[in-house]
Amino acid sequence: MGISDLRTFVSRALPKRTKTQPVNPHRIDYAQVAEAAEEKAKKVQHPKGKYTARERINMLLDDGSFVEIGQFAGGKIADGFSGAGVATGFGEINGRQVAVYSQDFSIRGGSLGQAEGVKICKLIQRAIQLRIPVISILDSGGARIQEGVAPLAEYGRIFRQICEASGLIPQIALVLGPTAGGAVYTPALNDFVVMTKQNSHMFVTGPDVVQAVTGEQVTADDLGGAELHNTQSGVAHYMGEDEEDAMDYVRSLLNYLPSHCNELPPHYDYTPSPDDEQAAADVANLVPSESRMPYDMVEVIQALVDHGEFVEVQEYWAQSIVIGFACIHGKTVGIIADQPSHNAGTLDVDASEKAARFVRFLDAFGIPIVTLVDVPGYRPGAEQEAAGIIRRGAKLIYSYANATAPMITIILRKAYGGAYIVMGSKGIGADFNYAWPDAEIAVMGAEGAVNIINRRDIKAAGPDEKAMLAKRDELAADYQVKNINPNLSVEKGELDGVIEPGHTRQAIAEALEVLRNKDRSHHGPKRHVNGPL
Ligand code: HXC
Repeated sequence: MGISDLRTFVSRALPKRTKTQPVNPHRIDYAQVAEAAEEKAKKVQHPKGKYTARERINMLLDDGSFVEIGQFAGGKIADGFSGAGVATGFGEINGRQVAVYSQDFSIRGGSLGQAEGVKICKLIQRAIQLRIPVISILDSGGARIQEGVAPLAEYGRIFRQICEASGLIPQIALVLGPTAGGAVYTPALNDFVVMTKQNSHMFVTGPDVVQAVTGEQVTADDLGGAELHNTQSGVAHYMGEDEEDAMDYVRSLLNYLPSHCNELPPHYDYTPSPDDEQAAADVANLVPSESRMPYDMVEVIQALVDHGEFVEVQEYWAQSIVIGFACIHGKTVGIIADQPSHNAGTLDVDASEKAARFVRFLDAFGIPIVTLVDVPGYRPGAEQEAAGIIRRGAKLIYSYANATAPMITIILRKAYGGAYIVMGSKGIGADFNYAWPDAEIAVMGAEGAVNIINRRDIKAAGPDEKAMLAKRDELAADYQVKNINPNLSVEKGELDGVIEPGHTRQAIAEALEVLRNKDRSHHGPKRHVNGPL
Protein backbone atom coordinates (compact mmCIF):
# COMPACT_ATOMS: atom_id res chain seq x y z
CA MET A 1 0.00 0.00 0.00
CA GLY A 2 1.45 3.40 -1.00
CA ILE A 3 1.06 6.68 0.89
CA SER A 4 -1.94 7.87 -1.17
CA ASP A 5 -3.70 4.51 -0.65
CA LEU A 6 -3.12 4.80 3.08
CA ARG A 7 -4.74 8.26 3.15
CA THR A 8 -7.81 6.93 1.35
CA PHE A 9 -8.01 3.97 3.75
CA VAL A 10 -7.79 6.20 6.86
CA SER A 11 -10.35 8.71 5.60
CA ARG A 12 -12.81 5.89 4.87
CA ALA A 13 -12.24 4.32 8.31
CA LEU A 14 -12.96 7.58 10.24
CA PRO A 15 -16.61 8.62 10.85
CA LYS A 16 -17.64 11.64 8.83
CA ARG A 17 -17.91 14.85 10.91
CA THR A 18 -20.70 17.25 10.24
CA LYS A 19 -20.24 20.97 10.90
CA THR A 20 -22.98 21.08 13.62
CA GLN A 21 -21.62 18.17 15.67
CA PRO A 22 -19.65 19.47 18.78
CA VAL A 23 -16.10 18.24 19.29
CA ASN A 24 -16.88 17.27 22.90
CA PRO A 25 -20.41 17.56 24.26
CA HIS A 26 -19.08 17.87 27.85
CA ARG A 27 -16.82 20.73 27.05
CA ILE A 28 -17.08 23.59 29.60
CA ASP A 29 -15.84 27.09 29.04
CA TYR A 30 -13.85 27.30 32.28
CA ALA A 31 -12.70 30.84 31.64
CA GLN A 32 -16.31 31.93 31.45
CA VAL A 33 -17.20 30.02 34.63
CA ALA A 34 -14.32 31.65 36.46
CA GLU A 35 -15.29 35.10 35.20
CA ALA A 36 -18.90 34.68 36.31
CA ALA A 37 -17.78 33.42 39.73
CA GLU A 38 -15.46 36.40 40.14
CA GLU A 39 -18.29 38.82 39.25
CA LYS A 40 -20.48 37.15 41.86
CA ALA A 41 -17.66 37.33 44.42
CA LYS A 42 -17.19 41.06 43.76
CA LYS A 43 -20.89 41.65 44.40
CA VAL A 44 -20.62 39.86 47.75
CA GLN A 45 -17.33 41.38 48.91
CA HIS A 46 -17.05 44.92 47.57
CA PRO A 47 -20.13 46.34 49.34
CA LYS A 48 -18.57 45.16 52.61
CA GLY A 49 -15.31 46.96 51.81
CA LYS A 50 -13.56 43.63 51.20
CA TYR A 51 -11.70 42.29 48.19
CA THR A 52 -12.40 38.90 46.61
CA ALA A 53 -10.21 35.88 47.32
CA ARG A 54 -8.35 36.15 44.01
CA GLU A 55 -8.10 39.95 44.08
CA ARG A 56 -6.39 39.57 47.45
CA ILE A 57 -3.92 37.02 46.14
CA ASN A 58 -3.04 39.28 43.23
CA MET A 59 -2.61 42.26 45.56
CA LEU A 60 -0.30 40.29 47.84
CA LEU A 61 1.90 38.67 45.21
CA ASP A 62 4.29 40.17 42.67
CA ASP A 63 2.41 41.20 39.51
CA GLY A 64 1.34 38.29 37.35
CA SER A 65 3.16 35.69 39.43
CA PHE A 66 0.15 33.73 40.71
CA VAL A 67 -0.29 30.22 39.37
CA GLU A 68 -3.52 28.72 40.68
CA ILE A 69 -3.83 24.98 41.24
CA GLY A 70 -7.04 22.96 41.33
CA GLN A 71 -9.12 26.04 40.61
CA PHE A 72 -12.29 24.09 39.89
CA ALA A 73 -11.65 21.11 42.16
CA GLY A 74 -14.47 20.26 44.54
CA GLY A 75 -17.11 22.42 42.90
CA LYS A 76 -20.29 21.16 41.32
CA ILE A 77 -19.98 23.27 38.22
CA ALA A 78 -23.22 21.93 36.74
CA ASP A 79 -25.00 23.31 39.83
CA GLY A 80 -23.56 26.74 39.26
CA PHE A 81 -20.57 26.48 41.59
CA SER A 82 -17.21 27.37 40.21
CA GLY A 83 -15.06 25.40 42.61
CA ALA A 84 -14.36 25.04 46.27
CA GLY A 85 -14.55 28.05 48.61
CA VAL A 86 -10.81 28.51 48.62
CA ALA A 87 -8.25 29.45 45.97
CA THR A 88 -4.84 27.81 46.26
CA GLY A 89 -1.59 28.22 44.38
CA PHE A 90 1.93 29.57 44.17
CA GLY A 91 3.47 32.91 43.41
CA GLU A 92 6.25 35.27 44.36
CA ILE A 93 6.70 38.03 46.91
CA ASN A 94 9.65 40.32 46.20
CA GLY A 95 10.90 37.64 43.80
CA ARG A 96 10.74 34.81 46.34
CA GLN A 97 8.42 31.85 45.95
CA VAL A 98 5.49 31.38 48.38
CA ALA A 99 2.43 29.14 48.62
CA VAL A 100 -0.84 30.94 49.22
CA TYR A 101 -4.45 30.09 49.89
CA SER A 102 -7.35 32.49 50.10
CA GLN A 103 -10.83 31.64 51.35
CA ASP A 104 -13.68 32.70 49.07
CA PHE A 105 -16.49 34.15 51.19
CA SER A 106 -18.80 34.28 48.16
CA ILE A 107 -19.02 30.49 48.20
CA ARG A 108 -21.07 29.48 51.26
CA GLY A 109 -19.45 32.14 53.39
CA GLY A 110 -15.97 30.74 52.75
CA SER A 111 -16.93 27.88 55.05
CA LEU A 112 -14.69 24.85 55.13
CA GLY A 113 -16.01 21.59 53.75
CA GLN A 114 -14.17 18.49 52.62
CA ALA A 115 -13.13 19.91 49.26
CA GLU A 116 -11.64 23.01 50.87
CA GLY A 117 -9.84 20.94 53.50
CA VAL A 118 -8.30 18.68 50.85
CA LYS A 119 -7.09 21.66 48.81
CA ILE A 120 -5.54 23.42 51.80
CA CYS A 121 -3.79 20.26 53.05
CA LYS A 122 -2.39 19.55 49.56
CA LEU A 123 -1.05 23.09 49.34
CA ILE A 124 0.71 22.92 52.69
CA GLN A 125 2.18 19.52 51.74
CA ARG A 126 3.52 21.03 48.52
CA ALA A 127 4.95 24.00 50.41
CA ILE A 128 6.76 21.58 52.72
CA GLN A 129 8.19 19.72 49.69
CA LEU A 130 9.21 22.99 48.05
CA ARG A 131 10.47 24.47 51.34
CA ILE A 132 8.62 27.75 50.85
CA PRO A 133 6.51 29.91 53.21
CA VAL A 134 2.71 29.54 53.35
CA ILE A 135 0.48 32.60 53.50
CA SER A 136 -3.16 31.95 54.36
CA ILE A 137 -5.84 34.57 53.71
CA LEU A 138 -8.79 33.83 55.96
CA ASP A 139 -12.38 34.96 55.50
CA SER A 140 -14.73 32.20 56.58
CA GLY A 141 -17.80 31.17 58.54
CA GLY A 142 -15.87 28.16 59.85
CA ALA A 143 -16.88 24.51 59.54
CA ARG A 144 -19.48 24.00 56.77
CA ILE A 145 -22.55 23.14 58.76
CA GLN A 146 -24.23 21.06 56.01
CA GLU A 147 -21.28 18.63 55.77
CA GLY A 148 -21.43 17.29 59.31
CA VAL A 149 -18.26 15.65 60.54
CA ALA A 150 -16.32 16.08 57.26
CA PRO A 151 -15.16 19.67 57.93
CA LEU A 152 -14.24 18.79 61.48
CA ALA A 153 -12.04 16.00 60.19
CA GLU A 154 -10.51 18.37 57.65
CA TYR A 155 -9.72 20.95 60.33
CA GLY A 156 -7.95 18.18 62.21
CA ARG A 157 -5.89 17.38 59.10
CA ILE A 158 -5.12 21.06 58.49
CA PHE A 159 -3.94 21.50 62.09
CA ARG A 160 -1.68 18.48 61.73
CA GLN A 161 -0.25 19.83 58.46
CA ILE A 162 0.39 23.25 60.01
CA CYS A 163 2.19 21.59 62.91
CA GLU A 164 4.26 19.49 60.50
CA ALA A 165 5.25 22.66 58.67
CA SER A 166 5.85 24.63 61.89
CA GLY A 167 9.51 25.47 62.37
CA LEU A 168 10.30 24.13 58.89
CA ILE A 169 8.77 26.88 56.77
CA PRO A 170 7.34 30.24 57.88
CA GLN A 171 3.54 30.40 58.09
CA ILE A 172 1.70 33.71 58.12
CA ALA A 173 -2.07 34.21 58.47
CA LEU A 174 -3.85 37.25 57.10
CA VAL A 175 -7.25 37.43 58.77
CA LEU A 176 -9.37 39.64 56.51
CA GLY A 177 -12.89 38.61 57.51
CA PRO A 178 -14.65 36.47 60.06
CA THR A 179 -12.80 33.47 61.44
CA ALA A 180 -15.14 31.66 63.75
CA GLY A 181 -15.21 28.58 65.90
CA GLY A 182 -12.33 26.13 65.88
CA ALA A 183 -11.23 27.74 62.62
CA VAL A 184 -9.43 30.35 64.71
CA TYR A 185 -6.80 27.77 65.52
CA THR A 186 -5.46 27.89 61.97
CA PRO A 187 -4.07 31.40 62.50
CA ALA A 188 -3.29 30.66 66.14
CA LEU A 189 -0.92 27.87 65.04
CA ASN A 190 0.79 30.11 62.47
CA ASP A 191 3.95 32.09 63.21
CA PHE A 192 2.34 35.49 62.60
CA VAL A 193 -1.27 36.69 62.54
CA VAL A 194 -2.11 39.91 60.72
CA MET A 195 -5.57 41.53 61.04
CA THR A 196 -7.27 44.67 59.75
CA LYS A 197 -9.04 47.32 61.82
CA GLN A 198 -12.34 46.69 60.05
CA ASN A 199 -13.92 43.38 59.00
CA SER A 200 -11.38 41.17 60.74
CA HIS A 201 -12.76 39.02 63.58
CA MET A 202 -11.62 35.91 65.40
CA PHE A 203 -13.66 34.20 68.08
CA VAL A 204 -14.29 30.67 69.25
CA THR A 205 -17.95 31.52 69.90
CA GLY A 206 -19.74 34.30 68.02
CA PRO A 207 -21.89 37.06 69.59
CA ASP A 208 -25.21 35.26 68.90
CA VAL A 209 -24.11 32.05 70.59
CA VAL A 210 -22.61 33.99 73.49
CA GLN A 211 -25.94 35.73 74.03
CA ALA A 212 -27.91 32.49 73.76
CA VAL A 213 -25.67 30.64 76.19
CA THR A 214 -24.67 33.28 78.75
CA GLY A 215 -27.09 36.13 78.08
CA GLU A 216 -24.10 38.47 77.56
CA GLN A 217 -24.59 41.05 74.82
CA VAL A 218 -21.32 41.76 73.10
CA THR A 219 -20.34 43.13 69.70
CA ALA A 220 -18.17 41.20 67.25
CA ASP A 221 -15.46 43.86 67.69
CA ASP A 222 -15.44 43.53 71.46
CA LEU A 223 -15.43 39.76 71.21
CA GLY A 224 -12.73 39.31 68.59
CA GLY A 225 -11.87 42.46 66.64
CA ALA A 226 -8.37 43.47 65.60
CA GLU A 227 -7.99 45.89 68.49
CA LEU A 228 -8.83 43.26 71.08
CA HIS A 229 -6.41 40.73 69.63
CA ASN A 230 -3.63 43.30 69.16
CA THR A 231 -3.87 44.94 72.58
CA GLN A 232 -5.32 42.40 75.01
CA SER A 233 -5.32 38.76 73.93
CA GLY A 234 -1.96 38.82 72.15
CA VAL A 235 -3.31 36.55 69.39
CA ALA A 236 -2.44 39.01 66.60
CA HIS A 237 0.93 40.44 65.63
CA TYR A 238 -0.13 43.44 63.53
CA MET A 239 -3.23 45.61 63.09
CA GLY A 240 -3.48 46.87 59.52
CA GLU A 241 -5.33 50.08 58.66
CA ASP A 242 -6.88 48.21 55.74
CA GLU A 243 -6.20 45.17 53.54
CA GLU A 244 -3.42 46.92 51.59
CA ASP A 245 -1.61 47.90 54.78
CA ALA A 246 -1.95 44.37 56.19
CA MET A 247 -0.44 42.92 53.02
CA ASP A 248 2.40 45.46 53.06
CA TYR A 249 3.28 44.25 56.53
CA VAL A 250 3.33 40.61 55.41
CA ARG A 251 5.65 41.51 52.52
CA SER A 252 7.97 43.43 54.90
CA LEU A 253 8.01 40.54 57.33
CA LEU A 254 8.99 38.09 54.60
CA ASN A 255 12.01 40.24 53.74
CA TYR A 256 13.55 39.17 57.05
CA LEU A 257 12.66 35.47 56.92
CA PRO A 258 14.44 32.60 55.22
CA SER A 259 12.19 30.38 53.07
CA HIS A 260 12.90 27.41 55.31
CA CYS A 261 14.81 26.52 58.44
CA ASN A 262 17.92 25.30 56.63
CA GLU A 263 18.33 28.41 54.52
CA LEU A 264 20.40 31.31 55.86
CA PRO A 265 18.33 34.36 56.83
CA PRO A 266 18.25 37.04 54.10
CA HIS A 267 21.37 39.14 53.84
CA TYR A 268 21.48 42.45 51.98
CA ASP A 269 24.32 44.34 50.38
CA TYR A 270 24.88 47.13 52.84
CA THR A 271 26.66 50.28 51.83
CA PRO A 272 27.98 52.01 54.96
CA SER A 273 25.94 55.12 55.60
CA PRO A 274 27.25 58.17 57.53
CA ASP A 275 23.73 58.71 58.93
CA ASP A 276 23.67 55.19 60.39
CA GLU A 277 27.12 55.59 61.88
CA GLN A 278 26.23 58.97 63.40
CA ALA A 279 22.97 57.68 64.90
CA ALA A 280 24.78 54.70 66.41
CA ALA A 281 27.58 56.90 67.78
CA ASP A 282 25.03 59.16 69.49
CA VAL A 283 22.89 56.40 70.98
CA ALA A 284 23.86 57.33 74.56
CA ASN A 285 21.95 60.61 74.14
CA LEU A 286 18.71 58.62 74.00
CA VAL A 287 19.25 56.88 77.34
CA PRO A 288 19.05 58.92 80.57
CA SER A 289 21.88 58.08 82.97
CA GLU A 290 19.53 57.99 86.00
CA SER A 291 18.56 54.33 85.93
CA ARG A 292 14.88 54.86 86.79
CA MET A 293 14.18 57.51 84.17
CA PRO A 294 12.04 56.17 81.31
CA TYR A 295 12.97 56.42 77.63
CA ASP A 296 11.72 54.85 74.41
CA MET A 297 13.67 51.69 73.59
CA VAL A 298 12.31 51.72 70.02
CA GLU A 299 14.32 54.91 69.37
CA VAL A 300 17.45 53.16 70.68
CA ILE A 301 16.86 50.20 68.38
CA GLN A 302 16.31 52.52 65.41
CA ALA A 303 19.61 54.25 66.18
CA LEU A 304 21.47 50.93 66.13
CA VAL A 305 20.11 49.25 62.99
CA ASP A 306 20.59 49.79 59.25
CA HIS A 307 18.72 52.84 57.95
CA GLY A 308 16.77 53.02 61.24
CA GLU A 309 14.41 50.37 59.86
CA PHE A 310 12.78 48.27 62.55
CA VAL A 311 9.75 46.10 61.77
CA GLU A 312 8.05 45.77 65.12
CA VAL A 313 5.93 42.75 65.97
CA GLN A 314 3.03 42.84 68.48
CA GLU A 315 3.54 46.57 69.01
CA TYR A 316 0.45 47.09 71.16
CA TRP A 317 0.50 44.03 73.39
CA ALA A 318 2.69 43.37 76.44
CA GLN A 319 4.43 46.67 75.81
CA SER A 320 7.07 46.31 78.53
CA ILE A 321 9.00 44.27 75.99
CA VAL A 322 9.73 45.16 72.36
CA ILE A 323 10.27 42.55 69.64
CA GLY A 324 10.89 42.81 65.92
CA PHE A 325 13.21 42.47 62.94
CA ALA A 326 16.00 44.65 61.59
CA CYS A 327 19.37 44.42 59.84
CA ILE A 328 22.85 45.25 61.07
CA HIS A 329 25.47 45.67 58.35
CA GLY A 330 23.04 43.89 56.01
CA LYS A 331 22.50 40.85 58.25
CA THR A 332 19.01 40.04 59.48
CA VAL A 333 18.52 39.94 63.24
CA GLY A 334 15.60 39.52 65.61
CA ILE A 335 15.61 42.01 68.48
CA ILE A 336 14.20 41.51 71.96
CA ALA A 337 14.43 44.57 74.20
CA ASP A 338 13.02 45.80 77.50
CA GLN A 339 10.88 48.93 77.22
CA PRO A 340 11.59 51.29 80.16
CA SER A 341 8.76 53.61 79.06
CA HIS A 342 6.15 50.97 79.87
CA ASN A 343 5.86 49.73 83.47
CA ALA A 344 9.58 50.47 83.84
CA GLY A 345 10.30 47.56 81.50
CA THR A 346 9.42 44.94 84.12
CA LEU A 347 8.85 41.41 82.92
CA ASP A 348 5.26 40.30 83.44
CA VAL A 349 3.31 37.25 82.29
CA ASP A 350 2.39 38.67 78.89
CA ALA A 351 5.85 40.11 78.19
CA SER A 352 7.38 36.74 79.03
CA GLU A 353 5.10 34.88 76.62
CA LYS A 354 5.53 37.48 73.88
CA ALA A 355 9.33 37.30 74.03
CA ALA A 356 9.35 33.52 74.53
CA ARG A 357 7.41 32.79 71.35
CA PHE A 358 9.54 35.23 69.36
CA VAL A 359 12.83 33.75 70.58
CA ARG A 360 11.46 30.32 69.69
CA PHE A 361 10.59 31.52 66.18
CA LEU A 362 13.99 33.13 65.64
CA ASP A 363 15.76 30.02 66.84
CA ALA A 364 13.70 27.73 64.60
CA PHE A 365 14.78 29.74 61.56
CA GLY A 366 18.35 30.42 62.63
CA ILE A 367 17.87 34.18 62.86
CA PRO A 368 20.44 35.75 65.23
CA ILE A 369 18.92 36.94 68.50
CA VAL A 370 20.01 40.38 69.71
CA THR A 371 18.84 41.18 73.25
CA LEU A 372 18.98 44.74 74.61
CA VAL A 373 18.59 44.68 78.37
CA ASP A 374 17.34 47.38 80.73
CA VAL A 375 15.20 45.55 83.24
CA PRO A 376 14.54 46.08 86.95
CA GLY A 377 13.22 42.51 87.37
CA TYR A 378 10.08 40.41 87.12
CA ARG A 379 7.02 42.42 88.09
CA PRO A 380 6.28 41.75 91.75
CA GLY A 381 2.84 41.33 93.30
CA ALA A 382 -0.07 39.04 94.07
CA GLU A 383 -1.76 39.78 90.74
CA GLN A 384 1.23 38.52 88.73
CA GLU A 385 1.76 35.48 90.96
CA ALA A 386 -1.90 34.53 90.53
CA ALA A 387 -1.62 35.10 86.78
CA GLY A 388 1.10 32.44 86.68
CA ILE A 389 4.35 34.40 86.52
CA ILE A 390 6.15 31.20 87.56
CA ARG A 391 4.61 29.01 84.83
CA ARG A 392 4.48 31.68 82.13
CA GLY A 393 7.79 33.31 83.04
CA ALA A 394 9.40 29.89 82.65
CA LYS A 395 8.51 29.99 78.95
CA LEU A 396 11.07 32.72 78.33
CA ILE A 397 13.76 30.80 80.17
CA TYR A 398 12.82 27.71 78.17
CA SER A 399 13.10 29.55 74.85
CA TYR A 400 16.49 31.12 75.52
CA ALA A 401 17.88 28.02 77.24
CA ASN A 402 17.01 25.84 74.24
CA ALA A 403 18.14 28.31 71.58
CA THR A 404 21.13 27.48 69.41
CA ALA A 405 20.93 30.44 67.01
CA PRO A 406 23.64 33.10 67.43
CA MET A 407 22.86 35.17 70.54
CA ILE A 408 24.27 38.59 71.36
CA THR A 409 23.24 40.51 74.49
CA ILE A 410 23.94 44.10 75.50
CA ILE A 411 23.05 45.42 78.97
CA LEU A 412 22.41 49.13 78.59
CA ARG A 413 21.57 50.34 82.09
CA LYS A 414 20.45 47.63 84.48
CA ALA A 415 19.81 43.90 84.76
CA TYR A 416 18.61 42.62 88.10
CA GLY A 417 17.89 39.19 89.51
CA GLY A 418 15.94 36.61 87.52
CA ALA A 419 15.39 39.11 84.73
CA TYR A 420 19.18 39.37 84.28
CA ILE A 421 19.39 35.60 83.84
CA VAL A 422 16.50 35.22 81.44
CA MET A 423 17.25 38.17 79.16
CA GLY A 424 19.96 36.40 77.20
CA SER A 425 22.62 36.07 79.90
CA LYS A 426 25.82 34.14 79.25
CA GLY A 427 24.62 31.48 81.68
CA ILE A 428 21.43 30.84 79.72
CA GLY A 429 23.36 30.41 76.49
CA ALA A 430 24.27 33.70 74.81
CA ASP A 431 27.47 33.76 72.74
CA PHE A 432 28.51 37.38 73.21
CA ASN A 433 27.58 39.55 76.20
CA TYR A 434 28.50 43.19 76.66
CA ALA A 435 27.47 45.99 79.02
CA TRP A 436 27.69 49.76 78.93
CA PRO A 437 30.14 51.25 81.52
CA ASP A 438 27.48 52.39 84.04
CA ALA A 439 25.37 49.23 83.81
CA GLU A 440 23.96 47.93 87.10
CA ILE A 441 24.08 44.14 87.42
CA ALA A 442 23.17 42.47 90.68
CA VAL A 443 20.78 40.15 92.48
CA MET A 444 18.85 43.20 93.65
CA GLY A 445 19.13 46.97 94.14
CA ALA A 446 21.41 48.44 96.85
CA GLU A 447 18.66 49.47 99.29
CA GLY A 448 16.94 46.08 99.24
CA ALA A 449 20.28 44.29 99.51
CA VAL A 450 21.60 46.15 102.59
CA ASN A 451 18.22 45.81 104.32
CA ILE A 452 18.82 42.06 104.19
CA ILE A 453 22.54 41.54 104.52
CA ASN A 454 23.28 44.52 106.88
CA ARG A 455 20.11 44.36 109.02
CA ARG A 456 22.10 44.09 112.27
CA ASP A 457 24.50 46.95 111.35
CA ILE A 458 21.57 49.24 110.58
CA LYS A 459 19.82 48.31 113.84
CA ALA A 460 23.04 48.88 115.81
CA ALA A 461 23.17 52.49 114.54
CA GLY A 462 19.78 53.09 116.32
CA PRO A 463 17.60 53.52 118.16
CA ASP A 464 17.53 56.97 116.54
CA GLU A 465 15.58 56.55 113.25
CA LYS A 466 17.63 59.23 111.47
CA ALA A 467 20.91 57.56 112.43
CA MET A 468 19.60 54.21 111.19
CA LEU A 469 18.60 55.70 107.84
CA ALA A 470 21.97 57.43 107.51
CA LYS A 471 23.73 54.11 108.19
CA ARG A 472 21.56 52.36 105.63
CA ASP A 473 22.34 55.01 102.99
CA GLU A 474 26.05 54.76 103.74
CA LEU A 475 26.02 50.96 103.42
CA ALA A 476 23.89 51.17 100.27
CA ALA A 477 26.34 53.63 98.68
CA ASP A 478 29.21 51.31 99.53
CA TYR A 479 27.31 48.30 98.14
CA GLN A 480 26.51 50.27 94.98
CA VAL A 481 30.18 51.03 94.33
CA LYS A 482 31.46 47.57 95.20
CA ASN A 483 28.76 45.29 93.81
CA ILE A 484 26.48 47.02 91.33
CA ASN A 485 28.76 47.50 88.37
CA PRO A 486 29.73 45.42 85.37
CA ASN A 487 33.31 44.78 86.51
CA LEU A 488 32.45 41.72 88.60
CA SER A 489 30.66 40.19 85.63
CA VAL A 490 33.67 40.83 83.40
CA GLU A 491 35.99 39.19 85.94
CA LYS A 492 33.68 36.17 86.22
CA GLY A 493 33.57 35.84 82.44
CA GLU A 494 29.84 36.55 82.32
CA LEU A 495 30.50 39.59 80.15
CA ASP A 496 32.88 39.63 77.20
CA GLY A 497 33.55 43.29 77.75
CA VAL A 498 32.36 46.71 78.76
CA ILE A 499 31.73 48.85 75.71
CA GLU A 500 31.07 52.52 75.18
CA PRO A 501 27.45 53.05 74.03
CA GLY A 502 28.68 54.49 70.75
CA HIS A 503 30.43 51.19 69.98
CA THR A 504 27.29 49.04 70.40
CA ARG A 505 26.37 48.70 66.72
CA GLN A 506 29.93 47.81 65.79
CA ALA A 507 30.16 45.25 68.62
CA ILE A 508 26.97 43.54 67.43
CA ALA A 509 28.17 43.56 63.81
CA GLU A 510 31.52 42.00 64.78
CA ALA A 511 29.82 39.32 66.90
CA LEU A 512 27.44 38.48 64.02
CA GLU A 513 30.44 38.04 61.76
CA VAL A 514 32.18 35.71 64.21
CA LEU A 515 29.01 33.65 64.69
CA ARG A 516 28.06 33.35 61.05
CA ASN A 517 28.99 29.65 60.86
CA LYS A 518 27.84 28.62 64.32
CA ASP A 519 27.23 24.84 64.54
CA ARG A 520 23.61 24.33 65.54
CA SER A 521 23.32 20.57 65.25
CA HIS A 522 21.56 18.74 68.06
CA HIS A 523 22.93 15.55 69.49
CA GLY A 524 20.97 13.31 71.78
CA PRO A 525 18.38 10.60 71.96
CA LYS A 526 15.31 12.49 73.13
CA ARG A 527 12.35 13.36 70.91
CA HIS A 528 11.74 16.80 72.36
CA VAL A 529 11.94 18.69 75.62
CA ASN A 530 8.84 19.01 77.77
CA GLY A 531 8.61 22.77 78.04
CA PRO A 532 6.11 24.84 79.99
CA LEU A 533 3.65 25.29 77.10
C1 HXC B 1 -22.27 26.89 55.89
C2 HXC B 1 -22.24 29.18 56.04
C3 HXC B 1 -21.49 29.10 57.22
C4 HXC B 1 -21.13 27.82 57.71
C5 HXC B 1 -21.84 31.16 56.76
N1 HXC B 1 -22.44 30.47 55.81
N2 HXC B 1 -21.26 30.36 57.65
N3 HXC B 1 -22.62 28.07 55.37
N4 HXC B 1 -21.55 26.74 57.01
N5 HXC B 1 -20.40 27.66 58.80
C6 HXC B 1 -23.17 30.97 54.66
C7 HXC B 1 -24.50 31.64 55.06
O1 HXC B 1 -25.50 30.68 55.21
C8 HXC B 1 -24.72 32.55 53.88
O2 HXC B 1 -25.20 31.77 52.82
C9 HXC B 1 -23.32 32.98 53.49
O3 HXC B 1 -22.44 32.01 54.07
C10 HXC B 1 -22.94 34.32 54.02
O4 HXC B 1 -23.23 34.36 55.40
P1 HXC B 1 -23.96 35.59 56.10
O5 HXC B 1 -24.36 35.16 57.46
O6 HXC B 1 -25.02 36.12 55.19
O7 HXC B 1 -22.79 36.67 56.14
P2 HXC B 1 -22.46 37.69 57.29
O8 HXC B 1 -23.68 38.42 57.74
O9 HXC B 1 -21.33 38.52 56.76
O10 HXC B 1 -21.95 36.84 58.54
C11 HXC B 1 -20.78 36.05 58.41
C12 HXC B 1 -20.63 35.16 59.66
C13 HXC B 1 -21.95 34.37 59.90
C14 HXC B 1 -20.29 36.03 60.87
C15 HXC B 1 -19.45 34.23 59.40
O11 HXC B 1 -22.31 33.74 58.68
C16 HXC B 1 -21.78 33.32 60.94
O12 HXC B 1 -21.87 33.60 62.15
N6 HXC B 1 -21.63 32.08 60.51
C17 HXC B 1 -21.52 30.93 61.41
C18 HXC B 1 -20.23 30.97 62.15
C19 HXC B 1 -20.06 29.71 62.95
O13 HXC B 1 -20.57 29.64 64.08
N7 HXC B 1 -19.45 28.74 62.31
C20 HXC B 1 -19.30 27.39 62.84
C21 HXC B 1 -18.23 27.44 63.83
S1 HXC B 1 -17.89 25.88 64.47
P3 HXC B 1 -26.24 32.33 51.76
O14 HXC B 1 -26.58 31.14 50.94
O15 HXC B 1 -27.38 32.88 52.55
O16 HXC B 1 -25.49 33.39 51.02
C22 HXC B 1 -16.48 25.48 63.71
C23 HXC B 1 -15.91 24.19 64.19
C24 HXC B 1 -14.54 24.02 63.62
O17 HXC B 1 -16.02 26.13 62.88
C25 HXC B 1 -13.83 23.03 64.45
C26 HXC B 1 -12.39 23.01 64.12
C27 HXC B 1 -11.62 22.39 65.23
